[in-house]
Amino acid sequence: MTNKNLLVLVVLMSVLGVSVSQNLDLNFYKNRCPDAEAIVRRITDQYVSHQPSLAAALLRLHFHDCFVRGCDGSVLLKSPNKDAERDALPSLSLRGYQVVDAAKTALEKKCPGVVSCADVLALVARDAVLAINGPGWAVPLGRRDGRFSRKSEVNLPSPFTGIAALKQNFSDKGLTSKDLVVLSAGHTIGISNCGLINRRIYNFTGKGDFDTSMKPSYVRELKRRCKPTDFTSSVEMDPGNVKTFDSNYFNIVAQRKGLFSSDSALLDDPETKSYIDTQVATAGSSFNEDFSESMVNLGFVEILTGNKGEIRKRCSSVNKDSSV
Ligand code: HEM
Ligand SMILES: *[C@@H]1O[C@H](CO)[C@@H](O)[C@H](O)[C@H]1NC(C)=O
Ligand SMILES: *[C@@H]1O[C@H](CO)[C@@H](O)[C@H](O)[C@H]1NC(C)=O
Repeated sequence: MTNKNLLVLVVLMSVLGVSVSQNLDLNFYKNRCPDAEAIVRRITDQYVSHQPSLAAALLRLHFHDCFVRGCDGSVLLKSPNKDAERDALPSLSLRGYQVVDAAKTALEKKCPGVVSCADVLALVARDAVLAINGPGWAVPLGRRDGRFSRKSEVNLPSPFTGIAALKQNFSDKGLTSKDLVVLSAGHTIGISNCGLINRRIYNFTGKGDFDTSMKPSYVRELKRRCKPTDFTSSVEMDPGNVKTFDSNYFNIVAQRKGLFSSDSALLDDPETKSYIDTQVATAGSSFNEDFSESMVNLGFVEILTGNKGEIRKRCSSVNKDSSV
């Protein structure tokens, strides 16, 4: 390749690079709704300070939004026939919709029809983590809202997924193995229904056994909290530490106390394992920074921008006047 060709290529790549990163913009609402971020922050703080467990719910809501049809607010849509994303089995335990709705209502008063529900959710997720003293990150904005939400499209990695499939599922969304291990640490906060782990601790291979990739003493502890037919109780994913957003998740996983197979599976790959080992050895020295970076990456998954989609007036329903 000649020097001139090389120069053309470099210029072209940087132009493309710029246009890609301009898909979203940190100052997207600067002119049309300068208080947008402050409003969302205030509402989220109000809710999370009264009910800290909402922080986990709100973080998970953003993840579920982004992994189904991209970060387009589709998880927020309600269907009279109960066939929207939120009606799918893995999403029945989602919580916190009221926070997003309250933030959107406040925004509509101040600057009607300007801030998308997809952006509100991305901001709420960030502010929820901040509200429990987790890391904060700048949220690129300008996503638009989708007009479709279908139960049948909900295809999220399950808690029983092994490492190869998890890596594939994240890679399909443009996310790396590092994003996978870093974002899995979202499980440092939050709870899981006993029904999702009973097989793992009582009847893993159908012979009344448990998953030996889990520490036996931890299996015993979980058995005390989850009886075999208990589908209502919850267990904390980071026991005793569920309200603190920190890198303790990696200690838990390294001690073979990861609650789901999908958590334990992070020890089965050299790259994700090495990340865990480093965080354990350094008490999570780079975790806050890494989590922030991966959350920004998550927020770019299959977004709608420009003239695609719409700006919903209410997050739970599509606009009536818009043509499809
Ligand atoms: C890697 C694949 C993942 C799998 C298989 C997975 C699976 C699960 C499951 C099964 C639950 C419990 C749900 C219930 O009790 O009904 C859960 C909860 C949760 N997940 Fe994940 N998850 C994954 C990734 C993520 C990511 C990327 C985040 C966010 C960054 C996240 C954040 C959470 C949070 C915060 C909760 C607790 C929710 C609450 O307390 O209401 N998860 N996850
Ligand atoms: C995850 O990847 C595996 C392996 O390619 C695939 O079988 C599975 O359907 C994927 N799951 C999701 C939710 O995309
Ligand atoms: C364990 O699993 C096997 C195979 O799925 C099933 O036949 C058996 O009834 C289960 N045992 C219990 C106690 O649930």
